[in-house]
Amino acid sequence: MVEHTLAGPHAAQKPGSDEPPMPQKIGKYEILGLIGKGSCGFVYKGYDPYVRRDVAVKTCRGFSLDAAQDEESIKRGFFTEARAAGMLSHPHIVSLYDAGSEAGMNYLVMEFVDGDTLMPACARNAARLPLDRVVDIIFKCAKALDYSHSKGVLHRDIKPSNIMLTPDGVPKVMDFSVAEVNDPAVVEDVKRNAVGSPLYMSPEQVQRMKLEPASDLYSLGVVMYQLLTGETPYGGSDLLQLFANIRFAPVPDIEAKRPDLPRELSTLINRLLAKRVEQRYQSGRELGNDLLRIFERLKQADLNLSRRESRDSLRSLRFFDSFSDEQIGEILSASHLLTYAPGVPIVREGDIDGAFYLIARGSAEVRKGNALIGTLLKGDCFGEIGFLSSTRRIATVTAATQVLALRVSSTLLDQVSTDCQLRFYKIFTQTLIYRLSLSNAKLSAATAPV
Ligand SMILES: Nc1ncnc2c1ncn2[C@@H]1O[C@H](COP(=O)(O)OP(=O)(O)OP(=O)(O)O)[C@@H](O)[C@H]1O
Ligand SMILES: [Mg+2]
Repeated sequence: MVEHTLAGPHAAQKPGSDEPPMPQKIGKYEILGLIGKGSCGFVYKGYDPYVRRDVAVKTCRGFSLDAAQDEESIKRGFFTEARAAGMLSHPHIVSLYDAGSEAGMNYLVMEFVDGDTLMPACARNAARLPLDRVVDIIFKCAKALDYSHSKGVLHRDIKPSNIMLTPDGVPKVMDFSVAEVNDPAVVEDVKRNAVGSPLYMSPEQVQRMKLEPASDLYSLGVVMYQLLTGETPYGGSDLLQLFANIRFAPVPDIEAKRPDLPRELSTLINRLLAKRVEQRYQSGRELGNDLLRIFERLKQADLNLSRRESRDSLRSLRFFDSFSDEQIGEILSASHLLTYAPGVPIVREGDIDGAFYLIARGSAEVRKGNALIGTLLKGDCFGEIGFLSSTRRIATVTAATQVLALRVSSTLLDQVSTDCQLRFYKIFTQTLIYRLSLSNAKLSAATAPV
């Protein structure tokens, strides 16, 4: 029995809006607000009062339970999604909780994802996501598709608006709305209807040919292309022109638009977008493996870059004037380059900490009790007494600005080559002697008779 009709007495309509009134309830679900509008209906944020969780309720007009002649369509259409998606349980697929029908309106109840779709990240004028983020997102979608394909479910409508990103940036594929279950009746039904979104369709999809897992992967390739360039590979003045381009135009050279792209990534995209199914990735797993390899290489390149940046910060310090790049690299791998926000203590009076510090960037204040006794700048070092004898710190050093400091501990330094150690200790001793002579000079000035 229908509990509430969608346009029932509880429905509220925004003044001046041409949207239909927002229902207060759909089935047992309390409706909290409208979150989106798609081709077949509305998506609402709802609340399940029994399970006590937020949900997304997607309504779809077009099929009516009341009209007997439509019953077959219901089975093969809207509820195909319910059946297909209900079979799927995966961290990168939006879970389907429930499906129902009331007052001539069908609805699906899904996991509510408190995020945005991939659409904003694909927009032409959006800031492009870093390469490793794109690779990670597509990798996770490939895993989701590999899983759904292994259950015999094709998506058929992969596009940015059907991929949600959680606030942590984790993608979740949704709307297996025109999905195909291994059911010949459904295949026929889908063949008769134009399905999918034209810009993301594979050559076989625009020809209404049988789709394969590689067809979903092609559409995912279009999404990836768009994430990287802000454009889909093909356009056209009309649908026919677009379809002709998808079938016959050469795959545009992505490197012309993204010269920073590693060759292996442009090769992967070309393979995703190949015209012939057999030239493409055949499974999400195969695609995922290649993406993972590229992801790891990008991360390694990042690491190398940050190592190079760290080395460059040390290279600019007088302390390292006589060190080769390799020796600085050795010191770096046996020490820690740490960042301190303003106000954060680097060493504390009274602590025992056998490390020596060198300020690579920023400035710090030295205090004994509450008294400010000195300021340290880029290139200055401190903590040598603790480094040599592991005694208690006699003062507190606090970052005055954002500080980048090299923290060298004597135990870690034992791991570098003898040559490098000797060089380090030589400069360290010279620095120590210089600082001691400065302190002596200050002391004699203070004690000298006026
Ligand atoms: N489970 C969900 N959680 C949170 N928001 C969602 C959820 N499902 C959909 N939305 C929001 O609703 C919007 C509309 O979704 P919908 O699937 O109806 O439209 P579409 O994908 O643009 O078109 P189509 O009808 O072709 O699928 C999405 O863009 C998204 O912002
Ligand atoms: Mg959708």
